[in-house]
Amino acid sequence: MSKSICFIDGLEGILKYREIDINKLVGLPYDAVSYLLIQGELPNEEELADFSARLRGEREIEKGVIDIIRMCNLNIDSMEALRTIVSYMSQFDPDLEDESLEGNTKKAIRLISGIPTIVAAYHRISNGKDPISPDPALSHGANFLYMLRGSQPTELEAEVMEKDFILSAEHELNASTFSSRITASTCSDLYSAIVSGLCTLKGPLHGGARLKVMDMLEEVSSPENAEEFVLKKIENKEKIMGFGHRVYKTYDPRGILFKELAKQLAETNGDMIWYETAEELEKTVLRELVEKKGKPIYPNVDFYSGVIYKYLEIPPHLATSIFAIGRVSGWIAHCFDQYSKKRIIRPRAFMLDEL
Ligand code: ACO
Repeated sequence: MSKSICFIDGLEGILKYREIDINKLVGLPYDAVSYLLIQGELPNEEELADFSARLRGEREIEKGVIDIIRMCNLNIDSMEALRTIVSYMSQFDPDLEDESLEGNTKKAIRLISGIPTIVAAYHRISNGKDPISPDPALSHGANFLYMLRGSQPTELEAEVMEKDFILSAEHELNASTFSSRITASTCSDLYSAIVSGLCTLKGPLHGGARLKVMDMLEEVSSPENAEEFVLKKIENKEKIMGFGHRVYKTYDPRGILFKELAKQLAETNGDMIWYETAEELEKTVLRELVEKKGKPIYPNVDFYSGVIYKYLEIPPHLATSIFAIGRVSGWIAHCFDQYSKKRIIRPRAFMLDEL
């Protein structure tokens, strides 16, 4: 029997992809984790070299896709652009109609490799610059930062980006993965399923929270303002972005790893402001909501990843798109699983009353 794509213990704060703990996976290359999710097992050296070469060979996007990026309204959130561009991209795929496993794998590789190039190109074009061609010598994370900035990231920045993609790659039947699976369950093509995932990830209660966390950090701007900010939010019965989770009733294990990475970046940059502001926000939320009110509202995956993006100087409107770059491997793993079942997902309306 194949290993389950994902396992979450929300009470103990455990997350595994294909039965391997996230704390072990975070030290691997993204390509290996992507392979694991899609194929069900970690690759051996030869399999990894082959899979990486295939991914790196599909990083360039068609000129027609670049043309459509240039035609986008360049003032919109990058997720609005991304869902349109990925949808458009499908017409250039020679294997679009090939529903065999190999045909779907070819599409999967083009999506995993093409989406970072689209996000970076959209960012550069919307800033009046030319897109940068991908560098096949670089890892998934390093190449993305290179295409975004036009200069090589530091070793630590490249490592953080790679880990961000790994920690964002999969999370069981979250809202966007469910959307992708539903589309795949109708035997619609992989591009359509990924566009469904993108549309759902965009919302602020899901992947869009990362962008809201970045806005919140900017608004709070220093550790001294954090306590008052949280108290006001609670008084107004507003949610604090980057906190709470439907499944985790303790620390999200990804949040712990993101916090460590944020601290490393802060110390290396010699600038603690975003890290310390985030820590004060966290301390006040834990005191007011967990200790005083007994609500399990801990930092989720979007909180410290938002802090990391501040240190990487990533513009907030790119935050959800960058989440999508990591998550696409998870969506694909679920779509492949769904295709193998050949069964439509068709819930009844009364089930909604239980949500
Ligand atoms: N800030 C303050 N209070 C909160 C928060 C928060 N972030 N999250 C939940 N609560 C409170 C609610 O007000 C509610 O209180 P009540 O029982 O007194 O009415 C209680 O906790 C339960 O909240 P629900 O919204 O019912 O919890 P649910 O499981 O439906 O929602 C969700 C989970 C959407 C993640 C929620 O915690 C939230 O909106 N968080 C902020 C947005 C966010 O960070 N989303 C990213 C989640 S991770 C991801 O999707 C990638």
